[in-house]
Amino acid sequence: MYPLSRRSGRLALRELTADDVDAVLAVYGDPEVNRHMSFGPRTRDQTTEIVTRFRTSATATPRTEFAFAVTTRQDGEAIGVGRVATDPHQPGGATFGFALRPDTWGRGYGVETVRLLLGLAFEELGLHRVWGARAPLNEASARTMARAGMVQEGVIREHIRKDGQWRDSVVHAILDREWAASAGRSAG
Ligand SMILES: CC(C)(COP(=O)(O)OP(=O)(O)OC[C@H]1O[C@@H](n2cnc3c(N)ncnc32)[C@H](O)[C@@H]1OP(=O)(O)O)[C@@H](O)C(=O)NCCC(=O)NCCS
Repeated sequence: MYPLSRRSGRLALRELTADDVDAVLAVYGDPEVNRHMSFGPRTRDQTTEIVTRFRTSATATPRTEFAFAVTTRQDGEAIGVGRVATDPHQPGGATFGFALRPDTWGRGYGVETVRLLLGLAFEELGLHRVWGARAPLNEASARTMARAGMVQEGVIREHIRKDGQWRDSVVHAILDREWAASAGRSAG
């Protein structure tokens, strides 16, 4: 299960390297990116640790974490991070997450990234169900997941502890048969 990669019209997913720390920091270190995330802006040291952890998990057997650099196909620049994580207690299921550098927002890259991750999850990993949790106020994430074919399922109450307070999460999910139907639609 290593290395994995995937491409769409304008973007690609590739395995992270040690040279990606600055690109990942430009995403995870940005307060605007983290406004609705479960964690605050990361420091460079924290980002280095995260990239190291992602790289270590990529070659684990079995592999349960699939974290990628999101790159532009035009020049290979890393502009975001996407992650799918399977759960041994939830056979066939995975959670996922995605974040892009703010100067790239608003061009449809979010939807393209989600579809790359879902394509990987269903077509390469053979999963049955993928879900993501977002902050109730994260409208960009809600619309991005909806546009990518995911269904809003409900609320996990007081799911996240952030800034000393409990916060709900809204769950969006998609099943393998829904993906197959929507992938067919976008191909047509
Ligand atoms: C979520 C994110 C990836 C979207 O990226 P993007 O490239 O701007 O998204 P797209 O251009 O593909 O837009 C997708 C949809 O979201 C909508 N959208 C984007 N930003 C929005 C905003 N700030 N408010 C409301 N809707 C927004 C777009 O209008 C589009 O919907 P539409 O097609 O119905 O009009 C980006 O905002 C991001 O990285 N946010 C920080 C990290 C994050 O919140 N990740 C999700 C964690 S659950």
